[in-house]
Amino acid sequence: MKRALKIIGILIGLLVLAVGGFAAYIALKGIPHYPVNMPAEIASLQVPRDSVRVARGAKIATLLCNECHRGKDGRLVGIIMADVPKEFGTIASYNITQDPVHGIGAWSDGELYYFLRTGIRKDGSWAPPYMPKFPLMANEDVYSIIAWLRSSDPILAADLRENPPNNPNFLVKFLSNTVFNPPPLPQQTIAIPDTANQVAFGRYVADALCACYGCHSADFKTMDIQTPENSAGFYGGGNPVLDKEGRTVPSANITIDKETGIGNWTQQQFYEAVKFNKNPRGGPLYYPMFPHTTLSDTEVNAIWAYLQTVPPIKNQIKRFALSD
Ligand code: HEC
Ligand code: HEC
Repeated sequence: MKRALKIIGILIGLLVLAVGGFAAYIALKGIPHYPVNMPAEIASLQVPRDSVRVARGAKIATLLCNECHRGKDGRLVGIIMADVPKEFGTIASYNITQDPVHGIGAWSDGELYYFLRTGIRKDGSWAPPYMPKFPLMANEDVYSIIAWLRSSDPILAADLRENPPNNPNFLVKFLSNTVFNPPPLPQQTIAIPDTANQVAFGRYVADALCACYGCHSADFKTMDIQTPENSAGFYGGGNPVLDKEGRTVPSANITIDKETGIGNWTQQQFYEAVKFNKNPRGGPLYYPMFPHTTLSDTEVNAIWAYLQTVPPIKNQIKRFALSD
């Protein structure tokens, strides 16, 4: 008996040492670096900066980039993001204006493409999960973002401001060394599905382009960006996302469950909620839900069609109210 206790004691001791050692290793290692394996056709990529691509890129940016990178004066100079959960430490986005030193003016199109897909920069450093990666986005849409980043949009004009200080904490380092890895480059060219196939097109807009499921699943920590439907609580809501004052605004269940989701909504109610943040119960929908005014009617209606095919989840959300 005594001997068994002693062995158990030693085992526990070893376990504590191993856990402590792993923690110290992660704290020292920080955010991992990765080898840069850029295929020749990406290294030499040159995206035409035509007005159609620039306009499409600007539209995507209003949905995907500006909210995180926009300073008080509207320029994309990077900010300390008050709406990143405190459990991740103090997180800042970066200056992505065209200044070659303080911004991304010196990056090649290929470097931007590789970074947007994988999060890996040319020096091998990796952007942690709070900078999204876009492994499922159509090539044309990634090209459009790049064309826009090079455009004369005034919010991108070269700006000398330094990146705000960024202090990811142990949890970010831990997650970046364990659960989250750079997604691989797509093996084939990804095309935008035909709008005639409403469900496939809606799935593309919701999952690959706007990543609606990220906020609308259980938690960012269990989000699966390569296979979105494997994210815990896919579209069942409850992710405790924050507003700009740091208050928790749980995301809504937007599966078609009739009791706890949007199964009793009309298509028009959905359209007005997504496009204009109108809450059919009265009043607005609260940030970080934002009005997706730049989505076309075809796109919003396709998301609706797609959501009809997503398995319903019963999950009653305690909604944010201003009096909370
Ligand atoms: C949820 C917030 C968020 C969104 C949305 C977002 N970013 Fe970022 N971005 C960040 C953060 C935070 C960093 C800093 C990452 C790091 O610490 O390595 C960053 C870094 C970058 C960098 C690297 C800059 C450098 O100097 O290393 C580029 C380029 C970039 N973002 C472009 C974009 C584009 C283009 C979009 C839209 C398609 C976008 N970001 C959307 C938060 C965001
Ligand atoms: C940055 C996080 C975020 C993103 C991205 C996001 N949402 Fe939301 N959404 C929320 C939050 C939080 C709420 C709840 C707001 C509230 O309670 O007032 C919400 C509410 C909603 C509602 C209202 C549901 C209800 O029961 O009131 C709909 C519909 C909706 N979102 C659809 C979408 C769609 C479609 C997309 C993608 C095009 C999307 N959302 C992207 C965070 C987000």
